[in-house]
Amino acid sequence: MIRVLFVCLGNICRSPVAEGYLRAAIERLELSKQISCESRGTGGWHEGEGADSRSSANARSHGIDLGGHRARQVSLSDIDEFDLIVAMDERNLRDLRTLAPKHHEKIFLLRDHDPLDTERSVPDPYQGGVDGFEEVYQIVSRCCDALLHELQSNLSSR
Ligand code: 4NP
Repeated sequence: MIRVLFVCLGNICRSPVAEGYLRAAIERLELSKQISCESRGTGGWHEGEGADSRSSANARSHGIDLGGHRARQVSLSDIDEFDLIVAMDERNLRDLRTLAPKHHEKIFLLRDHDPLDTERSVPDPYQGGVDGFEEVYQIVSRCCDALLHELQSNLSSR
């Protein structure tokens, strides 16, 4: 089993979308016994809250249900337990590597898998308008497709 953890700042906007998108793809491809995913935030301000309503509405428009999401702050034991820690932006990456310096090698940016290879960070949509949430979905979905493709080739070469 490969366990993937997506991490953003608040765990209410970006990483819940990545978790919801990848989980739906894993289920569609019948890979639930091989790959699983969760999400966390580096900050704990929104612990226990559902996903941001703008994020949920956008995800729903793409057939992804974030209704069951509850925000959680990332812990050192999460980083110990998960196989891949996928940061949404460079600040998240820095904070995670500061929290767990010995796990440097398994912590990387989601956009390291961006087939369009433009920017390094998934922009934080929290303070902006609804367009930002659609942009997050577009980035997250294409990067998660690429990540899943890579995981599938790793699984088949085991
Ligand atoms: P996220 O967005 O990191 O994508 O969940 C944010 C959510 C909340 C805050 C910042 C970013 N905040 O400052 O409360």
